[in-house]
Amino acid sequence: MEENEYWINYWKNNDIVNKSGLHEKVGRTIAGKPITNEKWSDVLSDLETQLTLNSKDDLLDIAAGSGAISIPFSNKVHSVIAIDISEKLLSGMEGINGIKTMAADIRTTDFEENQFSKIILYFALQHFTEKETVILFQKIHKWLKPNGFCYIGDIPDEEKKFDFFNSKEREVAYFNSIVKSQPIIGTWFMKDFLKKLGKYSGFKETSIIAQPEDYINAHYRFDVKLVK
Ligand SMILES: C[S@@+](CC[C@H](N)C(=O)[O-])C[C@H]1O[C@@H](n2cnc3c(N)ncnc32)[C@H](O)[C@@H]1O
Repeated sequence: MEENEYWINYWKNNDIVNKSGLHEKVGRTIAGKPITNEKWSDVLSDLETQLTLNSKDDLLDIAAGSGAISIPFSNKVHSVIAIDISEKLLSGMEGINGIKTMAADIRTTDFEENQFSKIILYFALQHFTEKETVILFQKIHKWLKPNGFCYIGDIPDEEKKFDFFNSKEREVAYFNSIVKSQPIIGTWFMKDFLKKLGKYSGFKETSIIAQPEDYINAHYRFDVKLVK
C-alpha cells in the first residue's frame, strides 16, 4: 500500500474521528490533552493576520478536518468551502455560517481558475507524498486569484525529525512504522524543497515562517506562505 493510501484509510476509519472536541478529533493534542482555547486563538489570530482575512474573501480550507479553522473564520469572510476526505469530521460543520462542506479527496478534485482569494492547508501536508505536493502546489496556484494568498501551516521539518523522535524507543517506533508502511507523522519536508517548489509553481513569493516558540509543535514544524 502506498503511504498516502494509508492516510486516507486512517482518516476514514480510525476511531479518532469519533472523539469529542474539535482538536481531539484531528489529534491536536499534547500528552493526550487538546491544545488550550487560548493557544489555539493565538494560532487563529496569527493566521488571520498572515492572510489579511476580510469580508470579501472566498476561502478554501483544504483538509479542513473538524472545522477548527473553517468555523471561526466563517463569520470573517464572504464564503468558505471546507474540503476533507472524512465525511464524519466534516459533519460537525453542517449549517454553520453558510460553510459549504465537500467530502472529497483534494488530489482528485478541481476548482475553477481564480476561484479563491485565500487558501489554507493546516496540519495536513504530512499526508501527501512529494509528488502529490508538487501537483497540489500547481493546483493551488491555478485556484487562487491573482495576488491571492495560501497559508500552509504545521509542516513537519525534515531537519528536526530527530527532535521529534528524540529517544531510543521513539526512533525504533519510527523505523518500524516505515517498514510497515504506516509512517508515524507522514512526509517530512525540507524548507528548500518547498521554497523552490513555490517558485516552480509560479508563486511570486514563497516565505518560510517559523512558528512562535510557544506553539505546541514549534519544535518540529514550520509554516509556508505563498503569494500568487
Ligand atoms: C491532522 S488533520 C488537520 C485538520 C485541520 N486542517 C485542522 O488543522 O484542524 C488532517 C486532515 O487531512 C485530511 N486529509 C488527508 N488527506 C486528504 C486528502 N487527500 N484530501 C482531503 N483531505 C485529506 C484528513 O481527513 C484530516 O481531516
